[in-house]
Amino acid sequence: MQGYSIKTLTQFIIERQADFPYATGEFTRLLYHVGIAAKFVNKKVNKAGLVDILGEAGNINVQGEDQKKLDVLANWQFIQALKSSRECCGIASEENQEIITWDDELTRDGNYIFCMDPLDGSSNIDVNVSIGTIFSIYRRISPRGEKATLDDFLQPGNKQVAAGYVVYGSSTMLVYTTGSGVFGFTLDPSIGEFCLSHYSINTPQDGKIYSINEGNYSNFPEGVKKYIDYCKEADSKTNRPFSARYIGSLVADFHRNLLKGGIFLYPATAKAPKGKLRLLYECNPIAFLAEQAGGKATNGSQRILDVKPESLHQRIPFYAGSSNMIDKLEEFMRNNP
Ligand code: AHG
Ligand code: MN
Ligand code: MN
Repeated sequence: MQGYSIKTLTQFIIERQADFPYATGEFTRLLYHVGIAAKFVNKKVNKAGLVDILGEAGNINVQGEDQKKLDVLANWQFIQALKSSRECCGIASEENQEIITWDDELTRDGNYIFCMDPLDGSSNIDVNVSIGTIFSIYRRISPRGEKATLDDFLQPGNKQVAAGYVVYGSSTMLVYTTGSGVFGFTLDPSIGEFCLSHYSINTPQDGKIYSINEGNYSNFPEGVKKYIDYCKEADSKTNRPFSARYIGSLVADFHRNLLKGGIFLYPATAKAPKGKLRLLYECNPIAFLAEQAGGKATNGSQRILDVKPESLHQRIPFYAGSSNMIDKLEEFMRNNP
C-alpha cells in the first residue's frame, strides 16, 4: 500500500523549485509539460499493436534512416507539449533537419531550448522490446523575445540545466536530473501519474555488465577490442568474466546499467567512423545523468560534456557507465592508440 507516501512528479518539481533561489516557475512548467508528453506517448506505445501505428511511416529522416510511425507521432507529441508550455523557444529533434522555432511572441519569449530523441530504439518498436525518449534542456543564449538561433543549440553539454529520459518498458519510468542528483518516477497507470520511486540514484562504481553491439567487433578500435577481451577474461578478484547485455535501445541499456552497474559502449566503426550516436540529444543528456549518478561518460579520451558541438546532428563515439569501468576502458584506449 502506497497510500499517503505517494509523491507525484508534479509535486516533486514544484517542491524542488524552492531549492533555486531565483526560480520563477518557468522551468517547473516546462518539466511539467515534458511529463504530459511522456504520458501521451506512453499511451500510444502501449496500444501500438492495436491501432496501426507499428511499422514504417514511409519517410526518411535527417539521418537517412527510415522513420517509423511512432517516431513521427512521438516527435509531434513532444513538439506540441513544449510549444504549449510557452517556456520553450526552440527544439532540436532527431526527426527534424533544422531547429524548430515559432513566430508568436509568447514562445519567442521562452527562456529554454530543448533537444530530443523522441523515440529511441526504433528498431525495437515492432517487436515489443523497451524503447525510450531522451531530452536535454539549456537556457538560451540569444536574447528573449527573439527567435532562437543555432548557437543556442551548440552549447557544450556542461551547460545543460536538465536532462532525462523516459523508458517505456515493463513499467514506464521518467528519470531526470537538474544537476543535483538523479531522480526516477514510475508511471502508475491506475492514477495516470509519474510517482517518485527512485530517490537520488547512485550508480555502482564497479559493474559487472558490458553492453555493446559485439557483431561489429572486427571494426572496433584496438583499445575497445582489448577492453572487450578483458571483460570476457576470467579473474575472480575483479569478478570477471562480466555479463554481456545489449537491448539495442540506448535508453534501456543505459537504464539497466545505471541501476545495476555497468558500461555502455558505442565506438566508432568502419561503417560509422564518427560513431553512431548523436551528441546533442543522445550522448549529452545520458552523460549528464551518468555523472550526476556518480558515473562517467567519455568519447574515449575526452569528457563528453566538454565537447563543443559543431552541428545539430553530430555523431560521436560514446562510452558511459560505472566510473571504474570507464577509467579502465580509457586506460586500454590510451595504451592501444
Ligand atoms: P534511434 O532509434 O533513435 O535511431 O537510436 C538507435 C540507437 C540507440 O538507441 C542504440 O543504442 C543504437 O542505435 C543501436 O545501434 P545498433 O543497432 O547499431 O547496435
Ligand atoms: Mn536514439
Ligand atoms: Mn530516435
